Amino acid sequence: MKNYTNISDLSNLQDTIKDAILLKMNPFEHIDLGKHKTLVLLFFNASLRTRLSTEKAAKNLGMQTMTLNVNDAWQLEFEDGTTMNANTSEHIKEAARVISQYADVIAVRAFPGLKDKRKDESEQVINSFLKYATVPIVNMESATAHPLQALADAITISELTEKAKPKVVLSWAPHPRALPQAVANSFVEMMQLLEVDLSITHPEGYELNPDITKTTPIYHDQEEALKDADFVYVKNWSNYEHYGEILSQDTNWMMTQKKLGRAKFMHCLPVRRNVVVEDAVLDGNQSVVMHQANNRTYAAQIVLKQILEQMNLS
Ligand code: CP
Repeated sequence: MKNYTNISDLSNLQDTIKDAILLKMNPFEHIDLGKHKTLVLLFFNASLRTRLSTEKAAKNLGMQTMTLNVNDAWQLEFEDGTTMNANTSEHIKEAARVISQYADVIAVRAFPGLKDKRKDESEQVINSFLKYATVPIVNMESATAHPLQALADAITISELTEKAKPKVVLSWAPHPRALPQAVANSFVEMMQLLEVDLSITHPEGYELNPDITKTTPIYHDQEEALKDADFVYVKNWSNYEHYGEILSQDTNWMMTQKKLGRAKFMHCLPVRRNVVVEDAVLDGNQSVVMHQANNRTYAAQIVLKQILEQMNLS
């Protein structure tokens, strides 16, 4: 694998999941693979899990890591041909090439602005790194995708399912802030590739990008959608049609133990207690959020392993 910016970069998903589970059993087996290689992690936005799990994954492979909160550096310009006489001090053309001299792999987190759908969907930041960097790029959550989270979620469901084809429901939840669609997008795309019975439930008007949901069944009746679910993935996203707006904060959509039934509860974290999900669910034994967070390391590790192996072949 040359880059991991979207799920489609995985050439064999089933083998990747199996190999990630093997890495989990023996995380230091490939400690020499990343020797004398450096991962630079660039954060345009906050992170707890992605930062620590990706650093840990790299170290498990023997890589060195350097992490930069980009807001502490020079403000970057991404537009071509701009006269840079305002706030931006450094163009991505120089920055990406400079960082490529220090890094063997660059990982980038850059959330959407949620103001301009077309601009966010152009994935300007991650695509600029793909264009101008001279080393592989890993997406640590971009404007529209969170493929490392989705891979961790796929590993989690593969490990915990008791059925050949579990019923998986993505359920929208209220939230006081406008959040990206990235986690939901990548989760849907990932589940569409797995042997699961996937459906989505959200209030009317909260449809995700139809190019992503495709033929996945959508329910506006949450109770109907959750019936007989094996895994319930709860996530807020801001409105896609009225882009970035909050049109509902209906507390009836919060996940409760009663609604969850016997299903396992999933969430990418961080999560707002008693807004997105009630305490009883998070504190109960059907919650697998810690399992998901742990799998973030092995999702990142299998991705970095495949990239390093490809580099060794080139
Ligand atoms: N789930 C996730 O990406 O967590 P962080 O935002 O803390 O990295």
